[in-house]
Amino acid sequence: MTGLRVLVVGSGGREHALQLAFARDPAVAAAHVAPGNPGTWRLSQSQDSPAGPSQLPLADLDPLDGAAVVALARRLEASLVVIGPEAPLVAGLADEVRAAGLACFGPSAAAAQLEGSKQFAKEVMAEAGVPTAASFYCTTAEQVVAALDEFGPPYVVKNDGLAAGKGVLVTGDRQAARAHAADCGAVVIEEFLDGPEVSLFALTDGTSATPLLPAQDFKRAGDGGQGPNTGGMGAYTPLPWAPDNLASEVMTRVIEPTVAQMARRGTPFSGLLYAGLALTSRGLRVVEFNVRFGDPETQAILPLLETGLGEVLLAAATGRLDTLGPLAWRPGASLAVVMAAAGYPGPPRQGGRIEGPGLFEPVDGVQIVHAGTALDSAGRLVAAGGRVLDVVAGGADLQAARRRAYAAIEQLNFPTGFCRHDIAQLAAEGQIGPVAPL
Ligand code: AMP
Ligand code: GLY
Repeated sequence: MTGLRVLVVGSGGREHALQLAFARDPAVAAAHVAPGNPGTWRLSQSQDSPAGPSQLPLADLDPLDGAAVVALARRLEASLVVIGPEAPLVAGLADEVRAAGLACFGPSAAAAQLEGSKQFAKEVMAEAGVPTAASFYCTTAEQVVAALDEFGPPYVVKNDGLAAGKGVLVTGDRQAARAHAADCGAVVIEEFLDGPEVSLFALTDGTSATPLLPAQDFKRAGDGGQGPNTGGMGAYTPLPWAPDNLASEVMTRVIEPTVAQMARRGTPFSGLLYAGLALTSRGLRVVEFNVRFGDPETQAILPLLETGLGEVLLAAATGRLDTLGPLAWRPGASLAVVMAAAGYPGPPRQGGRIEGPGLFEPVDGVQIVHAGTALDSAGRLVAAGGRVLDVVAGGADLQAARRRAYAAIEQLNFPTGFCRHDIAQLAAEGQIGPVAPL
């Protein structure tokens, strides 16, 4: 396979990280992101394009408009479409792209319900015998009260539907738990899971599956895990504290039974199955499934992938994953620190200027990945979202990667932004674990 041309649908840090990984793969002739962001548009200009780089109508794409995605893929002569975010997947974009005869990496609408509905995911896990928190599906105040009584505090109340990483409330405050349930309408209330959390991503073509490196995400907005839940404030990989059999256990007990059950139901899952896990004192439990690359874990993981991303995602999209061997990884560690706009995960402050070295080119092994950035009318880089940038650094170990990432953040001038200062700190200092047997 040479000369693969790829269209990545989406506009965040995950999509920029995918494009950077495709750009490192000699088998990929071009990878464009639409609607994209200033980071991906800049990279597109250096990529080959049938339309000529300045002519690319990338920014105007509506990811929910299947006909427009297919038309853009044709115009770019893309033979692989990769769908980044969950909303278009849940809305059926992958079905439309495949119906047009294009290879597509991402699950069908029916399979994307694993993320689209927490209750659907619970049903599939129950059918497949996958370990997860005990839970109740509640649509009335009476059911909510009964479920809160059953489990006791801390209460875990989850919006059944998509909520951009902000639908989950974990609280000791019963009134707050009831209020969140009332705001959401339909919720899943579940038992509290202790222990460290892990994200394991698996590529699957509906039958075979292969894991990426495990990563850890930092969900809370503030240092030390304080503050509200977010989409993720940073991530690192690999996990020096995790048991050696983590990936194999998760594949055997979570990913493979889920993939098999989805096939049995007549809705095979092809794409990336993201298992959010808690390593509890009673063993491994699934916290959630997502149906796409995690953000910001992807930004940390992909720089360590040695196997070409194009070949791998095309094999998954076309039912040939079993023809690839295990993925090859570089040694060392990698982390991503999110710079968010003040106010996030509430309404973020928009328009704040961002200046400094490395905003468009890597400097000293640090890659700045664009997530929620824009160019103002004078062409200056400004904040235009909640999570604005990911500062991604590698190193021989986590200490080295952390030093690099935080040194690069010191060089940035983004006064309306903030970050967590403790991404990967406990792991780097050897302060996580030991964990109970999986
Ligand atoms: P989710 O969107 O389901 O991943 O939930 C977001 C975050 O809420 C998770 O990463 C956990 O930090 C927390 N969380 C979710 N479910 C539970 C649970 N059952 N027990 C403890 N924390 C949870
Ligand atoms: N990092 C969490 C997510 O992608 O949902």
